[in-house]
Amino acid sequence: MGFALGLRARAAEYRLVSFESAGSTNAEALKRMRMDERGPLWLATAHQTAGHGRRQRAWISPPGNLACSIIEALKTDHAGAATLGFAAGLALETALRQVSGGAASFSLKWPNDVLANGAKLGGILIEAEATPDGLAAVVGMGVNVVAAPEGTPYPAISLQALGIATDAETLFTALTDAWAEWFEVWDHGRGFEAIRTQWLIRAAGLGAPIQVRQGDRVIDGVFETIDEAGRLIVSRNGESTKVAAGDVYFGAAMSAGAA
Ligand code: BTN
Repeated sequence: MGFALGLRARAAEYRLVSFESAGSTNAEALKRMRMDERGPLWLATAHQTAGHGRRQRAWISPPGNLACSIIEALKTDHAGAATLGFAAGLALETALRQVSGGAASFSLKWPNDVLANGAKLGGILIEAEATPDGLAAVVGMGVNVVAAPEGTPYPAISLQALGIATDAETLFTALTDAWAEWFEVWDHGRGFEAIRTQWLIRAAGLGAPIQVRQGDRVIDGVFETIDEAGRLIVSRNGESTKVAAGDVYFGAAMSAGAA
């Protein structure tokens, strides 16, 4: 079976290009964006050989895992674009819930990860650039469908290990429809309050102890909420810290090896 858009995505005139194998769908999407592609265009593969994640980390994606990116023209500024990842998280969670048929539950880890059983199942990387027509973004999403990397700072898991029998193509089709839905709710940042509410309902670790690592700096406290700009609010001894970037750990992972 090949990659295909869902009905809602097709009705909203999304387009798709799929690859037997690709270095990085984000890199390929950025290349096209710089050659005036403004989307909405999906790029998808089940065999990515040189994927990257946030903070220039490698993203390992063996054959059978889903790697895809969407190019979207944005009618917002960089601050607005910074909230798009929460809509992407909701789209991924919606698609995963649909293909798993309730066999597992998923949560969203700030800023842009999807967890299952407390381990990382998927990640999101947003790369936004100014173009002559305004900002445009590449939203890359990777899901461990058949295999998860070992020895990562945060434990990882795959859909296969969860006992969910699906494939990258089926998940992708569900994701394209879920993306069309949540991108519309996000509404170029104007709908972030609704996105924020839904994201918090699915948030991992809300109200519990949390640790944020920013290089050598470690912030310990309680995960209070995310604010109107999507920053993580950590409280400790009655004081709140607003966190714009960092690696988040909960529970047992807090005392595990540093990232
Ligand atoms: C992260 O968790 O650090 C983000 C991972 C994002 C991986 C996806 S896979 C598809 C797209 N292409 C890439 O090179 N990266 C993103």
